[in-house]
Amino acid sequence: MRPFVFLVASIAALGGLLFGYDTGVISGAILFITHDFTLDTKLQELTISVVLIGCILGSSVAGSIADRGGRRTTLLVSGIIFAIGAILSAIAPSDDVLLAGRLVVGIAIGFCSVVAPLYISEVAPADVRGAMVSLYQFAITVGILAAYIVDYALAPAGAWRWMLGLGVVPALILIGGMLPLPESPRYLFKVGLADTAREELRRIAGGAEIAIEEAAITESLKIKSAGFATFATPAVRNALILGFSLAVLQQVTGINTVIYYGPHIFQLAGIASNVASILATTLVGVVNVLLTLVAIFFVDRIGRKPLLYAGISGMFVALAALAFAFAQPHLQGSLAGIALGSMMLYVGSFAYSLGPIVWLLISEIFPLDVRGVGMSICTLGNWVANLAVSLFFLTMVAAFGPSLTFATYAALCIVTLVVVWRGVPETKREILEHISLAPEGARAAEVTP
Ligand code: BGC
Repeated sequence: MRPFVFLVASIAALGGLLFGYDTGVISGAILFITHDFTLDTKLQELTISVVLIGCILGSSVAGSIADRGGRRTTLLVSGIIFAIGAILSAIAPSDDVLLAGRLVVGIAIGFCSVVAPLYISEVAPADVRGAMVSLYQFAITVGILAAYIVDYALAPAGAWRWMLGLGVVPALILIGGMLPLPESPRYLFKVGLADTAREELRRIAGGAEIAIEEAAITESLKIKSAGFATFATPAVRNALILGFSLAVLQQVTGINTVIYYGPHIFQLAGIASNVASILATTLVGVVNVLLTLVAIFFVDRIGRKPLLYAGISGMFVALAALAFAFAQPHLQGSLAGIALGSMMLYVGSFAYSLGPIVWLLISEIFPLDVRGVGMSICTLGNWVANLAVSLFFLTMVAAFGPSLTFATYAALCIVTLVVVWRGVPETKREILEHISLAPEGARAAEVTP
């Protein structure tokens, strides 16, 4: 592993740490905020979900900003927005200001969720790209776990301002860390700064790979740019359909019901005490972190598709077991154990498959010309689906019961398996610009002579 590439990817992955921390932290803070600002249910829901609304806004513009202003600059800007949002939330004198602060934090998460994987993917050499982008997912899981732990530690003091404000620390590290880092060489070629781009490629890749990468990038830039019409070409249209479907499926298979509502699910399964259900959720958070390492180690060795098949099948089995157990009245006594086991299997399976590999694939399948915008559209779908699932989970459980709710997510795992089987190309160790979803025969025609 080249240390410089590892360093660059690790710093950019801090965007993931902020993503995980800031989406996870509210679950513990909301109890105390509700008390201090005497929020009714509607305002509570808004205080929780406003961050996701910010993510939708941020992700929808991040790609075109990154295509114009550069990947590194956009990441730097998101660090600054994060810091402002965290401080505003921490000092908020009223719920209105808190809502504004959380919206700002959401916009920064939206930016990072597009640009961090995009930047890492473009900077990493092909043979370690999967591992490097998985570092970003690893950081998300560490952020979520850190949020659980901080919430747990600060709960006795009811210190919600500290819970929200601590997000400023990784934001400052992201800003400080990004300052000396290089811009993505692919972006530099795109904007015509070929000499600087070559220098950066040399720092990152080194050796014979430079010539191959440069040739591939230059070739890909010959593809006629037709603005939004580019999305009508077969390759880009296919990439958009696939990337968008995967980004949405990553959410509608239910991951954030566990991440955001873990304690609630454990209580449904009969774990009565708050402390025990929070601890059980923390255990699930640890599994989430550890199993992401499997992706880091294997995604470039055995490939994207085998990990996806294995992980999504594991998620299906876990969800089917949960659906079955909740439907059996005579299992009530052992439901807590079954729920814990199933949720560990479910999150563990997600952690080395749909978690990292969706971010990886959507950063790989678009041609350089429209990569930022393509990723933005997919990521926007991811956040909208996230918001929908989070808003409707409790309603679904109340209306249909937990068994049918989990059975729905299980069925969507089968849909995801079919999409992977039919649509996902194996991109392991391919140079980014060699990846194309154009139908065979159409590729040559897309390149102008
Ligand atoms: C998803 C998040 C989720 C996290 C869990 C990410 O890949 O996009 O929505 O909370 O994984 O680890």
